[in-house]
Formats: sequence, C-alpha cells, structure tokens
Amino acid sequence: MDNQKQTKWKTSDYTRVSLLFFGQAILMIVLFVGAYALVDERENLLSMFLEDATLLSKCIYIFIAEILLSFITFIYFYTDKRDFIKKTSNIIMIFLVMDISFIVCFLFGNINIYLRPYALCAVILLFLVNKRTAIFVNCFFSMSMMLFDLFVNYYLETNFEVYTALLLNFISGTLAVFIVDEEGSRLKVLAQGLLVSIPVVVSAVCLEFTSGVEELWKTALFAGASGLLSLMILTVILPFFEYAFGILTNFRLGEITNHKSRLIKSLIERAPGTFNHTLIVASLAEACSNAINLNPLLARACAYYHDIGKIRKADYFAENQAGYNPHDELSPELSTDIIRAHARDGADIIRKYRYPEVLAEAAEQHHGTMPIRFFYAKALKFTDGELDIEDYSYYGPKPKTKINAIIMICDACEAKVRTVGNRTHENVDKAVKEIIEERMDMDQFSDCDITFRELDIIRNAITNALAGVYHDRVKYPKLKKGKKDAN
Ligand SMILES: [Fe+2]
Ligand SMILES: [Fe+2]
Repeated sequence: MDNQKQTKWKTSDYTRVSLLFFGQAILMIVLFVGAYALVDERENLLSMFLEDATLLSKCIYIFIAEILLSFITFIYFYTDKRDFIKKTSNIIMIFLVMDISFIVCFLFGNINIYLRPYALCAVILLFLVNKRTAIFVNCFFSMSMMLFDLFVNYYLETNFEVYTALLLNFISGTLAVFIVDEEGSRLKVLAQGLLVSIPVVVSAVCLEFTSGVEELWKTALFAGASGLLSLMILTVILPFFEYAFGILTNFRLGEITNHKSRLIKSLIERAPGTFNHTLIVASLAEACSNAINLNPLLARACAYYHDIGKIRKADYFAENQAGYNPHDELSPELSTDIIRAHARDGADIIRKYRYPEVLAEAAEQHHGTMPIRFFYAKALKFTDGELDIEDYSYYGPKPKTKINAIIMICDACEAKVRTVGNRTHENVDKAVKEIIEERMDMDQFSDCDITFRELDIIRNAITNALAGVYHDRVKYPKLKKGKKDAN
C-alpha cells in the first residue's frame, strides 16, 4: 500500500540516494551529448563545446534543468514511496527504465518522429512498480525528452514539433497506464498497443495533412506503429527486469501457475492428491486476497507452490495414499520428521529451481510452528512421561506476510472442511472460525500485520468460497431398467 507508515532514514541513506539521483542527472546529460555527437557527426566533441559558447551555455542550462527534475522526482518518491527508494536496486531499476526508453526513443525517432515508442517508459514502470509511479516518472521522462529535443534540435525542425513530441509523450504514456491491462495475456497487451497509438495517429494526421497523400499515409502508419512498438519492446525487455531485479510481474505469475510449468507438472505426476488440494487452496487464497485488496495472482501462485515439498515423499501424505499408509510401520517421531520436512523441502526445491523467493517463503511459513497433533497423540500413547510438543511441531517460521497468513488459513480450512459431515453454511463457517481461532491462540499471526477485521473478512470469504466448492449435489432419481429415458 502506498500510504503505509514509512521508516526513518539515516544520514547515510540520504547521501546514497541523493548521489544516485545526481548520478542519473549526469548520465542523462552524457546520453544527450553522446546523441548530439552522433547526429552531428563531429569528431572532436571537446573542442566543439569550447569553441561554441552558445552550445556550452545550452548544455549548462539543460544540466541544471535535469538536476531540478531529478530533485522533484526525489521529493515525490521520498514523500510517497520512501521505503521503495531506500533500496538501491529499485532506484537503479527506475533509472535504467528511463535510460533504455531514452535510447530507444532516440533511435526510432531518427527514422520518423511519430514512430517514437512514446509510451515505453510508462508501460514498463506500470508492470514493474504501479500506476502512480508510472504516471509520475513518465512526466519526468517527457520533460527530459523535451530538453533533449531542444538541445539536439536535429530531426525536430521547429519548437512547435518539440512541444508536440512532449505532449505525445505525456498523453500516450498516461493513456497507456490506464488502457493496458497488467493482468492480461501478452497477446492482449500487444493488441492494446494499437489503442495507445490513437493520439499519435490523430496528431500525425492533423499536422501532416498538407504533405500529400503518400506522405500522409506513411506518417499515419508510423504513428499507428508507435503504441504497438512500445508494447512489443515491453514484452521483450520485461523478462530481463524480472530476472535482474527479482520482480514478479503478473506475466511471470501467470507463467508459473501454468499447469505446464516444470514444478507443477511434477506435482501433477508425483502427487496428484496434493495437486487437487492445491487447486482448492489456490481458489480460496485468491478469494481472500481479493476481499482484503491484496494481489490475487500472487496469492494464487503462493498457493500453487505451498506443498511442492511433498513431491519428495508423496506417498507419506494422506491425500496421495490409496489404502496403504507407510506411517503404520513408522515411529511417531520418524513420521513427524517426514511430515514437517515438506515445508522446508518445498522452499528448498523452489530455490533450487530459481523460482521467486516469495514462493519459497510461503512454502516455508505455511504451517508456521503448529503442532502435528496426530503424531503427538500417537507418541503420547507409547510413553508414560511427558513429551515436548515442540518436538512434534513444524519448524516455522510463522507467516511474515498477510498472503502467507492467508495460505496458512486456507490450507487448514480445505483439509478440515473435508471432514465436516453435513456441509451447511453454518457448519462450514464454524469450522473456518475454529481454524482461525486455533491459530490465533497459538500465536501464529504475531509476525505479520494482519488485523482482526481482515481475519473476519477472510473467514467470510472462505466460507462463501467453500460453499461453492462443496455444494450439495442434486440427487438424481434412480431409473428402473426398461423404462424410457426422460429425454
Ligand atoms: Fe503443507
Ligand atoms: Fe497444503
């Protein structure tokens, strides 16, 4: 959430972040000068600046303007997303998006000014951060591009064209933020690129109306390609950012919850019972996340992988057994060790296959430090003395995020509701309430900031969703042999 309480900064944080913002302003100037040298084809750049006082003063002016723009961007992030920019990698990611967008816009602008992928910077940030940041940084980027256009003044012959480019950058980028569906498929996102091109096409047609039919068509085609190009470059470049900065975009979440994904395929083959359980937990977790405004796709992905550790010893888990139970031949201690290992094994497998860390944490935390009551009770039967319940409990840690708390609750509810005989709404609600209260009593939510109100909303969401999963079937009347079919 954007308005969460923000942490305090030390002097070292201010210094580091200020240097990074200052560095970006300098890098933009270097890119400007580099582009200027490239389009002007002058060999000795230094003497060019020393000889031409106007050029030097222009350069100093643009440098100061860039510093001011950087400063305003810093103030925005500092007041709105302080924790986000405290992390150096996040700042580098934002600036890298801007620098890449600048280079791409410069290169395509050389072909035709209407071919510039104006919305590129905004759409990348939409997928990597959020709408608000995408809109704000796009404003900053549009201003920077305008400074560049004024400075280079190469393919834009008049200031009117420079301001048109500024307007298109702002309109096309902002429009893209509202039009492009972050939860849509890559193909749908590409198609939305055509809508993003509309303001560019309208401007191109209006401004080039007198340039002749052939030229007008050419310009309109370039303009039509602008938005599409932005979205095409986005789909190519996004995996790099996902990998380099460990960002889980909705594209990536969609891919890892695909049933053809490597680990999900293993789960289906080796532990089909667990896979079926996973599907129900995923739909419950999705409903809960929607109800308390968390990312439902992330909750779904965490649910898909929460029991992935069971593939190592699938037959030891009830849902995968068909009659034979290997625990009948094991001591309760050994059984406990096998059962509780699945949480750590899951995290281990997810990390080994380089899946996102957030999934590993969900797998590790989904049982918290809850006891495995069945084997604890079994062990008690074999001893006269006392037993430490911790020896029969999961290793933890307890859920550290709201989503992991949701996975914990949904996981337990799915298993418990199976055992409820008469699944009326009241009985299901009672079972869900018991699960949540039991975990509250055992202090399982003390490491995450979930509230009583949210737990109440989650309880209702699970009860309603489970009523849909386990609804009573309509009893079909038995047909006697020889009687004609009712159809
Ligand atoms: Fe589990
Ligand atoms: Fe589970």
